Amino acid sequence: MATYNLLLLPGDGIGPEVMAEVKRIIEFLNKKGPNRFTYDEGLVGGSCYDAHQVSITDETMEKAKAADAVIFGAVGGPKWDKVPYEARPEAGLLRLRKDLALYANLRPAVTYPALADASALKRELVEGLDIMILRELTGGVYFGEPKTITDLGNGQKRAVDTQVYDTYEIERISRVAFELARKRRNKVTSMEKHNVMKTGVLWKEVVQQTHDREFKDVTLEHQLADSGGMQLVKNPKQFDVIVTDNLFGDLLSDIAAMLTGSLGMLASASLGEVDPKTQKRKALYEPVHGSAPDIAGKGVANPIAMIASFGMALRYSFDMGKEADMIDQAIAATLGKGLRTGDIASAGMKTVGTEEMGSAIIEELEKLAA
Ligand code: NAD
Ligand code: IPM
Ligand code: MN
Repeated sequence: MATYNLLLLPGDGIGPEVMAEVKRIIEFLNKKGPNRFTYDEGLVGGSCYDAHQVSITDETMEKAKAADAVIFGAVGGPKWDKVPYEARPEAGLLRLRKDLALYANLRPAVTYPALADASALKRELVEGLDIMILRELTGGVYFGEPKTITDLGNGQKRAVDTQVYDTYEIERISRVAFELARKRRNKVTSMEKHNVMKTGVLWKEVVQQTHDREFKDVTLEHQLADSGGMQLVKNPKQFDVIVTDNLFGDLLSDIAAMLTGSLGMLASASLGEVDPKTQKRKALYEPVHGSAPDIAGKGVANPIAMIASFGMALRYSFDMGKEADMIDQAIAATLGKGLRTGDIASAGMKTVGTEEMGSAIIEELEKLAA
């Protein structure tokens, strides 16, 4: 038996609504045992800005560093459109990723059998889909310097973002990709734009070298990120692990979400390096979706991406693969019974709200644990 300490950061918009369902899952797991979860909560994003004029406080950052894992909801919304750039809600999330060195963002796109018709694509293209998008998360154009807007004095301004990648950053994300592939279908597709970008040239070269040196047993393919995006909707099942940079990974994972039926289905894990002394790694678990201002406050958000992200915490931080599998099975069973939130609603199915979906998943978990 172990006790794990979590930091919950619900954030803004639908963040707190979907986090409420994770709290109920934690309650269920504590009742079931043998492991026990305790948690602290903090403000992040716009809700933190309203209280402290920053999107995350140093105190919350310290708690995040000390926690066994951070569970993150979502941040942002039109209410904070006019706050200073450095204090915008999204900056809190970026600071968490950077300061905890969470360079590997695992975004699995799995189409549950019951949702094969919920995708915008034809059933046969997505049925049985299980791909892993691995997004580099602490480098690239998100963090490269200079990042400026300069007044040119002639009525014009110039905005600059800078894409930077060093060898070690590409090497370590490649290793994660190949290691993941070895436990899956043994194939990695690397996506970049070496035809236009120097970072793309280095990316392709380092991924290939890492492969040739350490992972010859894994099949490696390279694709330009633009046609890779096209292939993702043309024939998504050709992929196993896709490894790509911070910005392309952001775009490609939202595209992949629609293969599963909705952004409300896509979970993610953001992982740091394993500490050789403690064998532990810093980690943050967050759904891929945002604060969904258009539906916030209505109790209709799909909590599955958030719940499945917590499931990834069980798998990747707490060695609780059995419980993580149970969560996946409970989600599949609930969808199989015909329950749908609005984003995945379809004719003949029962449309439910966030809380009702959470209750149904917990009911299935109770059956599985009995
Ligand atoms: P979004 O992901 O918030 O919403 C896009 C669309 O998907 C909306 O129509 C929304 O209703 C729907 N959607 C998203 N999650 C859903 C869920 N769980 N259930 C049902 N429907 C869902 O993206 P956006 O509208 O482009 O951005 C809104 C705000 O969220 C912005 O401020 C953005 O910066 C922020 N954002 C935050 C995160 C994060 O915190 N990790 C991620 C993405 C966007
Ligand atoms: C995501 C989001 C974030 C990103 C924003 C909110 C900073 O879109 O996690 O996909 O761009 O990384
Ligand atoms: Mn995104």
